Amino acid sequence: MSDKHHRQIYQPNREYAKDARIKNMCEYQDLTRWAEEDYEGFWDSYAKEKIDWIEPYHTVLDESNTPFVRWFEGGKLNVAEQCVDRHLDVRKNKAAIIFEGDRGDKQMVTYLELYYNVNKMANLLKNEFGVKKGDRVVIYMPMLLESAYAMLACARIGAIHSIVFGGFSAEALRDRIEDAEAKVVITADGAYRKNKPYMLKPVVDKALEGKTPVEKVCVVERNGEDITWVPGRDYSYNELIKQQSPVCAAEPMDAEDPLFLLYTSGSTGQPKGVQHNQAGYILWAQMTMEWVFDVKENDTYWCTADIGWITGHTYIVYGPLAMGATTIMFEGVPTYPDAGRPWKMVEEYKINQFYTAPTAIRVLHKMGENEPAKYDLSSLKVLGTVGEPIDPPAWKWYYEEIGNSKCAIVDTYWQTETGGHMISPLPGATPIKPGCATLPLPGIMGEVLNPETGEKVEAYEGGYMCVTRPWPSMIRGVWGDPERFQKSYFGDVVKDGKPVYFTGDGAIYDDDGYITITGRTDDVINVSGHRMGTAEVEAAILKHDDVAEVAVVGKPHELKGEGIFAYVVLKTALDDAIYSDNIDMMKAINGVIKKEIGNIAVCDQMLFVPGLPKTRSGKIMRRILRAIAKGELITQDTSTLEDPSIVTTIEAMV
Ligand code: WTA
Repeated sequence: MSDKHHRQIYQPNREYAKDARIKNMCEYQDLTRWAEEDYEGFWDSYAKEKIDWIEPYHTVLDESNTPFVRWFEGGKLNVAEQCVDRHLDVRKNKAAIIFEGDRGDKQMVTYLELYYNVNKMANLLKNEFGVKKGDRVVIYMPMLLESAYAMLACARIGAIHSIVFGGFSAEALRDRIEDAEAKVVITADGAYRKNKPYMLKPVVDKALEGKTPVEKVCVVERNGEDITWVPGRDYSYNELIKQQSPVCAAEPMDAEDPLFLLYTSGSTGQPKGVQHNQAGYILWAQMTMEWVFDVKENDTYWCTADIGWITGHTYIVYGPLAMGATTIMFEGVPTYPDAGRPWKMVEEYKINQFYTAPTAIRVLHKMGENEPAKYDLSSLKVLGTVGEPIDPPAWKWYYEEIGNSKCAIVDTYWQTETGGHMISPLPGATPIKPGCATLPLPGIMGEVLNPETGEKVEAYEGGYMCVTRPWPSMIRGVWGDPERFQKSYFGDVVKDGKPVYFTGDGAIYDDDGYITITGRTDDVINVSGHRMGTAEVEAAILKHDDVAEVAVVGKPHELKGEGIFAYVVLKTALDDAIYSDNIDMMKAINGVIKKEIGNIAVCDQMLFVPGLPKTRSGKIMRRILRAIAKGELITQDTSTLEDPSIVTTIEAMV
């Protein structure tokens, strides 16, 4: 079957749908209608059913001060209790987390063991380091069980964690520590990648040089490599944890107390600390786990993300544990020792739901086309993707070779700011189309709007992906900057006189009302599913002494989705002959980027140009630079530029 534009449609697997939580489109539509007709009643019902409240709330939603909304006001809960304690009656001996190390080492913790480990770590933070409710704790960790303990321990005592991805540099870590004014850092000596140890603690040492708000550093000893210990500041987790009691009372938290911060890139140079709060976040994490992955009591679920990103927060730790699932944590890389590693793990653990990013699918396809056939993948029921648009060839390989044409692919569209899935197929209900996130989940008022009029666009017209009503797991603020929160998300699109949440993404409807995300409309690029602000990369490049000016754009990349392309103007002009091919300079500049941000932000291509196309008022015309990078024809009128000839000069250099 195909739609009017010849896109193939795949119906849900009927056998599977029989036992799915949402079994068909009628059920989906009933839920959607319920939310539309009685928004608060809908959320009230789920909040009562899903959350173990310490004290009930009195107001479902308070919108009197939008966009600063409040959900479930008056309610008290503890997210660690929601994720751990409440399961002890029914599933204390069930595997909560299964850890697989890079070198194949394995560990499993049951819900009861998780309870003890989280409590011990909570006691450690409280008693040894003096961490109190509301304090910020930075977690700079590899993928380890202790990373999950640390998150839940913070939640248990009401501390606000801020995880910094282990690939970020000391400078980037320092910025995040300072912005959050963190008192404690939890880290590891290092971990293993491709059978070799790599280090994290030295990066922390560097980040803490000079003045810092950090008083204590807790070091999980994972790889046993030599590290420096600063007396009075650095403590071994492995030593201290032995003395901690396995019982720790959970702090009753207000529904709207902050749960965590997670820094993400925006269109300005400074990353923003996205704030999520307690009740709304955990409610939606759990509901989407149940609806979208449809995990059953005896299932084993694996999300390959890193806990340093929002996907790792919501869909490795909080969501799966809130629903009482068995979740896998993997330390290694998917292509080591070969590109069959994930499929080997699927066979070994009998994985039922597998969730990864398009960039990983493309790499696994390219490097190991024949690997899936070597393993028994018949346990798989649902396959997920996230982070960037998935191209139809990658989608088809995933569907046919991994899912054996019987598993639903849930192309989940969401963001750090949304806390959980927004637009996604439901595996038992939604007919799917390659590369298409399909329909908003029940309760999510996602609409593609015309940015000028605020009206819903027609099919194939294209517009801005917006959400017209606040939802429970919506970002609650940008840490320390309420104005930036308001301006970043509620400034661009106005519907019926009210500013609505704008995601920053463009999208289109097809004839069936399905939504396809077309990518960012702002200066954010998506490298291997990771968000990078062009302004952030530019600010790093400008730190190189020889650089006068720079403009960074995204360029389509076969494996990464988008690669980073920089146009650099040097202070001292280079010889014409070496302009476009200055490897040493590119290496030096990438070195600065590694130091300022980390490896994930290095440029794939750099062009040393004599100038940049600018308007007379000095604004860099990025649209032109994007087109040149893609090798597209420039259709735009360039006569208004300060120096139109620069466009032809640059075009000739590419
Ligand atoms: C993009 C990741 C197309 C989008 C959870 C969004 C997607 C940004 C999809 C958020 C998808 C995420 N299809 N694009 N299924 N999922 N994106 O904050 O541009 O790291 O704005 O959250 O990734 O990235 P973030």
